[in-house]
Amino acid sequence: MGDKKQDELQMIPVYIMGKKYDVPAELTIMKAMEYAGYQLIRGCGCRGGVCGACATVYRKAGDYKIYTGLACQTVAEPEMYLAQLPFYPANRATYKFDEIEAQAETIFALYPELFRCVACNACTKVCPMDVQVMDYIAELKRGDIEKAAKTSFDCIQCGLCASRCMGELPQYHIAQLARRLAGGKLAPRSEHMAEIVRQINDGAFDKWIADLKAMDQDQLKEVYSNREMEPHMGDENWRPKENRGLVS
Ligand code: FES
Repeated sequence: MGDKKQDELQMIPVYIMGKKYDVPAELTIMKAMEYAGYQLIRGCGCRGGVCGACATVYRKAGDYKIYTGLACQTVAEPEMYLAQLPFYPANRATYKFDEIEAQAETIFALYPELFRCVACNACTKVCPMDVQVMDYIAELKRGDIEKAAKTSFDCIQCGLCASRCMGELPQYHIAQLARRLAGGKLAPRSEHMAEIVRQINDGAFDKWIADLKAMDQDQLKEVYSNREMEPHMGDENWRPKENRGLVS
């Protein structure tokens, strides 16, 4: 809204949960709701399009279609009818991660709903992150956990896919399991990570952290400005401890 005074603002009518409000044009749905007096306790998290808390369903004036989006990212339009879905009840399997295998059968057993997919693609159409939801479901039916983990990588767990699913699948929970299995049990182990964890456990960074804690704000800013960024990029011989010069 910048510095515009209230009487200079262009106001637009929107319908929030069925009630009409006049709100300034160009606000996101989330800000429009707050302008209208809603105090968001559920349905609001990061405000930056990454937490998935603000799934919203809306219609536009004169348009029969149901649209979906993230309230923190979608700009309100005149005569928009909208409602938020801060939570959508979808089955989430319970499992002990250490005790399950990274195999297709694990997913089939925990989520037999997978095979109720009717390939209507409604899930992909509503996804605000443009994730190819139906594709990763098909990949999982074929048992390709790693492919499904990659295809679903941008999922932010908003649940809109499940809200529109003809087969009543909890797609986003299934995809999360696939990513956990891929990342935790199928991806190769990082030697650099193991090495840095060993150094941390050995106390190699204790003095450095103590020095940082003792600095005032200006000193911290200087250290931050002069930091070495991505020192390992493209350097196969990178070694975290020596190259970063963190440890005296
Ligand atoms: S508030 Fe986190 S995605 Fe909108």
